Amino acid sequence: MDDVTLARAVHVLSVLHWFGGVAFVTTVVLPAVARLGEPAERLATFEAIERRFAGQVRVSVPLAGLSGAWMAERLDAWPRFIEPAGWWLAAMALVWLLFMAILFVLEPLVLHDWFARQALADPDGTFALVSRLHWILLAVGTVTAGAGVLGAHGVLN
Ligand code: HEM
Repeated sequence: MDDVTLARAVHVLSVLHWFGGVAFVTTVVLPAVARLGEPAERLATFEAIERRFAGQVRVSVPLAGLSGAWMAERLDAWPRFIEPAGWWLAAMALVWLLFMAILFVLEPLVLHDWFARQALADPDGTFALVSRLHWILLAVGTVTAGAGVLGAHGVLN
């Protein structure tokens, strides 16, 4: 097995873990937590679950980027990221940048405290907003992953 194939396997497994988790949080955890009685209980339960996933995804997201960059380098694919036909490669990089910013900058510095305050002040509205944002991220990631498979196998050129 050559290094590009190994990088491809690491890339796909990282994306699988990452968006599998986003799908589980969005479609299972958030709706279940939103039905809990006490706002403080909702907040504590959601945080306990999401904190564990955030710890894991802080490994799988960088790994997806590293393995993707390895492939791009070895396949001489960087110029394709800025060509119109390579929009799916650019979409991957943008989705990755967005999640890196959320996980390593926005969540620790801004979103954590904001969510704790909002969830106590307006539990229903906050859970609805957080749920909407998760759906958007899940949809964007799913479309990008689908486009990645089609693009890598020549269907989008
Ligand atoms: C900085 C971030 C990323 C870089 C540099 C990158 C780069 C690449 C490259 C170079 C390929 C191989 C293309 C080819 O064979 O022609 C690839 C494949 C792929 N990438 Fe990414 N990627 C990144 C992020 C993502 C993200 C965020 C997703 C999912 C949302 C994703 C999903 C995929 C998929 C599904 C494939 C196709 C695998 C296959 O079927 O062979 N990538 N990526």
